[in-house]
Amino acid sequence: MKQKHIAIRMQGISPFHVMDLLAQAKQLEAQGHDVIHLEVGEPDFPTPEAINLAAIEAIKKGKTKYTGATGLPELKVKISEYYQSRLGASVAAKNIIITPGASGALQLALSVLVNSNQKVLMADPGYPCNRHFVRLLDASALSIPVSADTDYQLTHDLIEQNWQQDIAAVLIASPSNPTGTLIDAVEMQKIIDLIEKKKGILLVDEIYQGLVYDQADFSAASLSPRVFVINSFSKFFSMTGWRLGWLVVPDEFIEPVDRLAQNLFLAPPTISQYAALSAFDSNTLKVLDAQRDELNKRREFLLGGLKQLGFDISVKPGGAFYIYADVSKFTSDSFKFCNDLLHQSYVAITPGVDFGEYKANRYVRFAYTQNVEKLQMALDRIGDFLSNYEYKP
Ligand SMILES: Cc1ncc(COP(=O)(O)O)c(C=O)c1O
Repeated sequence: MKQKHIAIRMQGISPFHVMDLLAQAKQLEAQGHDVIHLEVGEPDFPTPEAINLAAIEAIKKGKTKYTGATGLPELKVKISEYYQSRLGASVAAKNIIITPGASGALQLALSVLVNSNQKVLMADPGYPCNRHFVRLLDASALSIPVSADTDYQLTHDLIEQNWQQDIAAVLIASPSNPTGTLIDAVEMQKIIDLIEKKKGILLVDEIYQGLVYDQADFSAASLSPRVFVINSFSKFFSMTGWRLGWLVVPDEFIEPVDRLAQNLFLAPPTISQYAALSAFDSNTLKVLDAQRDELNKRREFLLGGLKQLGFDISVKPGGAFYIYADVSKFTSDSFKFCNDLLHQSYVAITPGVDFGEYKANRYVRFAYTQNVEKLQMALDRIGDFLSNYEYKP
């Protein structure tokens, strides 16, 4: 295809650098090297058996046609009950829109809310696809540098200082990717009140909900009926490949979101929805809670190990399965550092450049999606790697 046929907006859509590293890791594996994967943001646990069996049952019963555009009513009821019983949040089933992953939820919400001449405020570092979703709308991302001083999160003060008239929405993620850090309920309420006052819209990406370790989990939906909340079956429920998520929308947005969902997706995946009905069974939740406890052990283990090796981790991540580490004492180019670590020691991690521009060359992300034995092996290899690694400016 001729280059001129590719829309100009595609120039603003960058690939994941980590995909490059992943391709190289696959090549190394094909040559017989045993690569330890700490780069991909996906739990290593299998989908719980009850969910798999429910999917098989759905296929046997011929549940393979479209559902309504906003999803199965009975799944919305289950999610609504889950908000009440686990998080003490009253979210009516009618306000829940089932989507193809959090990715579908983010695209739907942003498309309904943002005009082409408007901006969306977000944190740098942050989940990279967000700025690309905004780019697709011919709108612009206003990325605000966040540092360890604010736990790598936007705060009430940062939002107030950076407010502009043409901001349509603010997008935050708690816990965050790549930093695993949280916004607590007090700060969240301050942010909600500020954005309300500014007549903007707040979107809170809670895709890592359920994977919170040191404090009680909550949803921004429990603080205000005006917030858009994004969630997914991908992470806590270990269902990345099922492509299922959801969006909580305020009353007056139900109709336009439904209308756009009809056009964008027709419907979320049917078999996945029937499978997800079993995700909230008490036995399944027990399995998932045990997985969360296992992730917590890994977090403590890897944090301790990395700090001993000299990695600078100034904020303890309270959720998700990521550690965001400053490697500037080892290198001035964290992408090259990741590349060297992969080729010399067969440990794959993600460079900061995948998550934004602010001090991206100083940071790397570790995903503790491998068991403790594997993490120990990774630490041993990284230790050997560092003992021979010469600082190269
Ligand atoms: C913060 C964040 N939001 C959204 C997504 C998209 O997830 P999915 O579409 O699998 O639900 C991810 C995936 O890693 C993420 O980290």
